[in-house]
Amino acid sequence: MEEKKEKIKISEVYSEAMNDIKSVFGLDKLQELKVKYLAKKSIIMTLLSGLGALPPEERKEAGQELNQTRNNIAKLIEQKESELRKEELEKKLKKEEIDITLPSRNVDVGGVNPFYVVKDEITDIFLNMGFEVADGPEVETDLFNFELLNIPKDHPARDMQDTFYISENVLLRTHTSPVQAHTMQAAEGKPIRIICPGKTYRRDDDDATHSHQFAQIEGLVIDKNINIGHLKATLELFVKKMFGEKREIRLRPSYFPFTEPSVEVDITCANCNGKGCSMCKGTGYIEILGGGMVHPNVLKMNGYDPDVYSGFAFGIGIERVAILRYGIDDIRKFYQNDVRFLHQYKKKA
Ligand code: DAH
Repeated sequence: MEEKKEKIKISEVYSEAMNDIKSVFGLDKLQELKVKYLAKKSIIMTLLSGLGALPPEERKEAGQELNQTRNNIAKLIEQKESELRKEELEKKLKKEEIDITLPSRNVDVGGVNPFYVVKDEITDIFLNMGFEVADGPEVETDLFNFELLNIPKDHPARDMQDTFYISENVLLRTHTSPVQAHTMQAAEGKPIRIICPGKTYRRDDDDATHSHQFAQIEGLVIDKNINIGHLKATLELFVKKMFGEKREIRLRPSYFPFTEPSVEVDITCANCNGKGCSMCKGTGYIEILGGGMVHPNVLKMNGYDPDVYSGFAFGIGIERVAILRYGIDDIRKFYQNDVRFLHQYKKKA
């Protein structure tokens, strides 16, 4: 009598569990069923722990039946769980589906900084004339930044090029001219025709026309029989390519310790075509770069015999060219990365 009652109970528990599991929605509800049917206080577990009270001949059969039922329920729950997980994943994937028909959000992409546009243009003009691009360190020694360019320790020209010192003899280069010395020493007496675009540094208070960091393009040509006519022709071609065929150049005597003679190069003002206006302060000309014939001392110190070789050099301020080219009123705008500034030069770039 007792045994029968128990059997019915187990099969009832099983069919109830089956129904429950079949119709359950959601993983958290399934978790509740797991507790209901398999946890310590569930009916099956309670019956299992009460087996000891049965007579030994019934104990085995009842035990087997209970264990079987518990395993079956566990299996059903497991199957349901993987089913529900799959459903949940599918739902999630559907929700995250990308609608490729939606219009895209606009990404504000500024434009190429006019500084780089001009730097590349200048570089291209000289590459087309047969120059090669050379490179040199931004952290320089006093030797290369000054001494090998004929600027000894107490030379007054140093006052105009105060910079950031790393130690007594190591500094951030004040101009790209030290690349002249590096290139000459590496070329070991062979002809040279290079430009070097790069960053330069000076201890300046930043304002509309000064920046503690700016950029130059150095030029150097060394060979036999190079004269100032080569310098003038090269720079004239550069100016016409950069600023237009109508521009004329003018060489004015100047002074740099590493060139002799030295010149300052002016171009006719684009605003008034040389007549004189407020932009060129009434002179009709605007200064754009410095240059000259390489000083014999510089040739000698860097391994060239000045009786056999001669050369010319020049230094162009990249920002200065960009300012003239685009009519930019403040050098700091090149470095601020303001998209409103970049947008203005987008079309021209
Ligand atoms: N290094 C000079 C400066 O920064 C510019 C310069 C002038 C470079 C004449 C040259 C040169 O190569 O020949 O002021």
